[in-house]
Amino acid sequence: MNMIKKKMLVTCALPYANGPIHIGHLYEHIQADIWVRYNRMIGKKVFFICADDTHGTPIMLKSKEMNISPKILINNIFKEHCLDFLNFNISYDNYGSTDSKENFNCLKKIFLYLNKKKYIIKKKILQLYDLKEKMFLPDRLIKGNCPKCNKKNQYGDHCEKCGCVYEALELLNPKSVLSGIKPILKKSTHLFFNLPLFEKKIKNWIDSGVLHKTIKNKVKEWFKKGLKKWDISRDSPYFGFKIPGYKKKYFYVWMDAPICYISTFKNLCKKKNIIFDKFWKHNKTTDLYHFIGKDIIYFHSVFWPAILEGIKFRKPTKIFVHGYVTLNKKKMSKSKNKLIKARTWLKYFDSDSLRYYFSSKSSSLSNDIEFNIQEFIYLINSNIVNKIINLASRCSSFINNNFNGMLSKSLLDKNLYNLFLKKTKKILILFQKRELSSIVRIITKYSDIANNYINKKCPWNYSKINKYNEKIQLICTMGINLFRLLMIWLSPIMPDLISRTENFLKIKLSLKEYKNPLINHKISIFNHLYNRISISYINIFK
Ligand code: MSP
Ligand code: ZN
Repeated sequence: MNMIKKKMLVTCALPYANGPIHIGHLYEHIQADIWVRYNRMIGKKVFFICADDTHGTPIMLKSKEMNISPKILINNIFKEHCLDFLNFNISYDNYGSTDSKENFNCLKKIFLYLNKKKYIIKKKILQLYDLKEKMFLPDRLIKGNCPKCNKKNQYGDHCEKCGCVYEALELLNPKSVLSGIKPILKKSTHLFFNLPLFEKKIKNWIDSGVLHKTIKNKVKEWFKKGLKKWDISRDSPYFGFKIPGYKKKYFYVWMDAPICYISTFKNLCKKKNIIFDKFWKHNKTTDLYHFIGKDIIYFHSVFWPAILEGIKFRKPTKIFVHGYVTLNKKKMSKSKNKLIKARTWLKYFDSDSLRYYFSSKSSSLSNDIEFNIQEFIYLINSNIVNKIINLASRCSSFINNNFNGMLSKSLLDKNLYNLFLKKTKKILILFQKRELSSIVRIITKYSDIANNYINKKCPWNYSKINKYNEKIQLICTMGINLFRLLMIWLSPIMPDLISRTENFLKIKLSLKEYKNPLINHKISIFNHLYNRISISYINIFK
């Protein structure tokens, strides 16, 4: 099987519908989008999807707080999220919602199948109950110390610090978020997915190389401790889908959320005539990739593949895990720290600049990255404006003013051009490996090489004597050609700049004919391709 022919389905984790998209979320969507654009650029057929995660307690509470129904809340947020992703050029083929009819249909079918197979177990368990509020407390309404690492103030389902997943009952020193009192224990019937049945299969799958080595080791630790049956039900009041056959029981949000990867794709299949089974039932001709943050590894590497195994669906080809965007070394998040909303960003800067900045800091590893506005401004001005844009600006001014926009008929320095061409292969390999910071480093180095070439050749010296000296045209055509290759390298990262560049060069930037130099060709007048960022912006997010 030729790998290049394999079609791909790529997903990002579904953002919760109880708040705005912030640049922490965007770190994931931008990384995924760059990888998707790279794959499309090399000719792969890629489907890229995501959806809003609309169920669960925080959304129920948020709507209560706002005095609107949860449905209205999630509909409003849906529109905002879609627009934010569009504005950041995240090239989704479909964007769904976990609250959709098709998601419920998928969920119901999957649940009934798992139930028929006897993978679902009913059990009476003790649950934390708030006597003052008269309700069972869902995970998000209980806080306490993590039973594994003792980190304070953790919710009842998983620990933000060490990433482990546990039952709310295991929390140390639990308190109700609603009333602040210590909850009592009360009995309730819950439904469990029999996870231990799948332990061996999932372990083998983990061993097959679906995760980065460092992440794999962490997941293996969890397996050493043994897997427990997974509680997939929640008591009323809850905003979510009701479990068929039960009056007051709801599916836990983490049950219907990953299923939305399936239902959102199914919806796309209907619109675009794609064969669904080829993507979810078999893995011979298609690949499935999930981009996720490191806080949700357990859900994607244990629960989710076990459910897929249970319903005899294929499992993900790879799971790409990224770290957090931090501000003052703390995770950017709605509940815990200041955040920079996608919309706020666009009031001051464009989306390409964030895409470039994140690329300069991201790799295949899952380390956190600290957002630093000073560093951001410096990078854009120094690497993009002073080096790359300046190369185009000074070369095109000679070409436009002295030669009516015409590039020369031949290439002055084939060796230098070939050096750049050779580097293209390396760049493509780095995109494949998601080593974006290395790509940014190479692009910067090569824009220095290109600028130094022009500096050495000094076209302005010839111009002083004879404006129309062919040497000027040859040198500047060389500069424009190197600029064009740098832009092809940048194209998955900065799509807006690329489309402006295409208008300027009057060609499509693609891998189709990049080996043939751009000669005997008329370019446009150079309009501002990119604006310098004023250092006065340094305090805007304070
Ligand atoms: N709804 C779940 C995912 C369900 S997937 C079936 C969820 N939502 S979330 O809104 O909290 O996070 C969505 C994604 O954004 C996650 O991958 C999460 O790691 C990522 N990020 C949220 N804040 C982030 C940062 N500050 N930095 C980097 N990624 C961040 O989890
Ligand atoms: Zn912990």
